[in-house]
Order: sequence, then C-alpha cells, then structure tokens
Amino acid sequence: MTPVELIRKKRNGGSLSKDELHAFITGFVNGTIPEYQMSAFLMAVYFNGMSVEERATFTEVMLHSGIVVDLSMIPGVKVDKHSTGGVGDKVSLILAPMVAACGVPVPMISGRGLGHTGGTLDKLESIPGFRTDLSIDEYKNVIAETGLVLIGQTEEVAPADKKMYALRDVTATVESIPLIAGSIMSKKLAEGIDALVLDVKTGNGAFMQRYDDSVKLAEALVSIGNSMGKKTIGFITDMNQPLGFNIGNWLEVVESVECLKGKNVPDLMEVTYVLGGTMLRLGKKADSINEGIERCKSAVSSGKAFNKFRELVKRQGGDVSYLDNPDSYPRAAHVKEVRSKKGGYISGFATMEIGLLAIELGAGRIKLDDVIDPKAGIILTKKLGDRVDKGELLATIHTDKENILNTASDKLASMIEIVDRPVTPPPIIVSYIDETGIRLWSF
Ligand code: URA
Repeated sequence: MTPVELIRKKRNGGSLSKDELHAFITGFVNGTIPEYQMSAFLMAVYFNGMSVEERATFTEVMLHSGIVVDLSMIPGVKVDKHSTGGVGDKVSLILAPMVAACGVPVPMISGRGLGHTGGTLDKLESIPGFRTDLSIDEYKNVIAETGLVLIGQTEEVAPADKKMYALRDVTATVESIPLIAGSIMSKKLAEGIDALVLDVKTGNGAFMQRYDDSVKLAEALVSIGNSMGKKTIGFITDMNQPLGFNIGNWLEVVESVECLKGKNVPDLMEVTYVLGGTMLRLGKKADSINEGIERCKSAVSSGKAFNKFRELVKRQGGDVSYLDNPDSYPRAAHVKEVRSKKGGYISGFATMEIGLLAIELGAGRIKLDDVIDPKAGIILTKKLGDRVDKGELLATIHTDKENILNTASDKLASMIEIVDRPVTPPPIIVSYIDETGIRLWSF
C-alpha cells in the first residue's frame, strides 16, 4: 500500500498490520515519508484510536526503530519507574537511589519538562557538572559500577518517538492514549529493563485530568508492557496538588536530598515508598510490596539511599558539595512571601497553573531554546486539608525576574483555594493495576 492508502485506512477506522505500521514508521524515520503524511496519520490515530493488538505492534515497531540496550551482563532483575508527569514530581530522584541501595539495578532514561510538568533531566542538571548526555557505553558502565544510571534519550534509542513527539507537539496530537502509550513504552523497553512500575497521574495537574482517562492510559501501558514480556505494574496517583512542597529544579533537588536524609514529606514519601516497595518485589528483593516498603525505609534511615545518590551524582560528573551543603547553592535574586488573605482550610490548588507559573518564573522553557534558571520556582508551605490563619505564609516565590514578582505573587495566591469548613484531602495512591486488572489501592 502507498502512504496515502495507509493513511486512508486509518482515517476510515481500520487497523494497520505489523508490516503496514513498520513500512510507515520506518519510512518516516529514514525520511521517505514526509512530516505532512505523518501528521495526517497521527491525527487519524488521535480520532480513531488503535485496537489493543495494534497498540502493541505500534509500540514494538517504535521500539525497534533504534537499538534495544542489552544489559544482560548486569546481574539481577533490572527495574525502572516511569511517571506520566506532574508538578513537583521529584519521585525519581529519591526512588532510583533508594531502590538501587536495596540491590535492584535501576537503568533510567528520563525526559525534560513537558507542558506544565517538570522533567527529571532538568532537575538533575541543576546540580553543577551533572551530565545526562552519556553515550550508551557510558550508560552501561555507570549502571555496572553504581547499580543505577539516569540519562536522557539519545539519538540511538527509539528515534521514531523522538521524531514523532516533536511533530505531535505542534500538531495537537499529544493527548492520545495509543500515541502516549507507544511513546512512553518504546523508550522504556529500549533501556534494557526486565520489569517496570508506572505512576499514572490523575487530577488537575496531570495530562489525564479525569480518573477514567487515567485508568485507560494505565491499562494500555500495563498491557503493552506485559504483552512484550516485561512484568509491568501501574499505580494511579493523585495530582490535584503539587507533590511535596518544592517546585522548580534545584528546589526539588533540595527537597529530594532532605527526604533521602530522612525527612518525611508525607505525600511525596508515600508515593516513593509504594513505588519502591513494588520495584523491590519485581526485582526479587522482597516477597511482597509491604516487605519492599520496609526495606526502602531502612535504606533511607541508614543513610544508604543518600550515599547511593551521592555516588551517582559524583559518577555522572556532578559537584556533590552542593548535596552536602545545599545552602552554598546560589539563591534567586528575589524571594517573595505569599501570605493568606483569610483564615480557613486549604481546599484546592490550581495545580497545572502553578506548574505554568513556575515556568514563567524561570523553572522551565516557554520557547524551545529558552535557558532554564535552576534556582527559580515556588516553595509551598501547605497541603490540601491544612488549616491556615489569616496572614500566615502560604508559599515563597523564587525568581531573578523582578518585573513579574508582584503579579506572580497575586496569581499564586489566587491559585490556592481556602474555605471555612474542614476539608478531607484525597487519597494519594488511588489504584493498582496489573495484568489481572485494576483495584482500589489499600495497604
Ligand atoms: N511522555 C512521553 O514520553 N510521551 C508522551 O507522549 C507523553 C508523555
């Protein structure tokens, strides 16, 4: 079939075969299928979706558009985690060293900030000297030596996703379950993992804001992973408020270091421990998630998890003196307090808007070539359900941009809703999904 015939078939609601998907996607990667035809195909998928089988084939073709890293020389079950993205989501920075400190190798290829969400690579790069652009050989050496590695997507790994993602971004075809699932899973399966834990966010700071859509995405991701022979478990977790207190690259590294040194930030550490316990179970270092959670807690309280992070940062070129003494890091030129105009209870955060505000302060890119200010961001002091008095501190804003300081502080105050009556915060971990189905999460 010609490219036009394949697009027409998809446009009319048909399913493409493995050979057809392979021809279309490899043609795009090697330049024989132009962007305008791929754009039309993406829009047809956006409107018509893909069958379960087609989704798995699509992912497999994307995966094999580049190399699949072979980590078979590393002993043990290699397990990674992927989050669909949120605001203040710094889980990977705490989780990866904590799990590696418990003996499960963690190879992680992470992304940069996308839309209103932050990215692990941008956070790590706020540590002076930290290199995320390792070659695949260096990637293998670091995980062999330290038990974990954190890098960005290279040209060799899932190039079809790299090229298609850039096009989706400018053709309004990002929010499609088969396209998101293929994009995430092709990258994750190319890393050399044996098993995967997924954190699918739901709520007003997530890409999938409605619970039902988050379930559909989680089910698609879990079924693709398992159908490709990688044991995959998913969680749906709440993103109706930023995770933890700090938003912005270096500010999030600071909060992660505090947690690695034993501070309990309840929502952040609940997610981190449950994902960590699950990774230990998948990595055969615990017989149950609960046992895994206990082992992860010991790795933190003994200092092993922090030491593992320090070892990784040093190995990837970062200056560990800033981890030992975070106060030595430069501060933003302006730190402005946001105080409550009334007393009551915190009933809502406009989470996506808070993420976008952090970007405006300098924590992310508004244009593709913008340079991130690692010091910029927001530190909240309250969580959903907390009591607040009139005049009490709600947050601090950190930025070098003096001209937006006052408007940013007014905007942030308007993004935090306060009511008179007590409020019950939502559960942080909502549900659990494996190959047998979905259930509400409880310990
Ligand atoms: N993250 C990805 O890697 N791909 C998507 O399509 C969306 C989020």
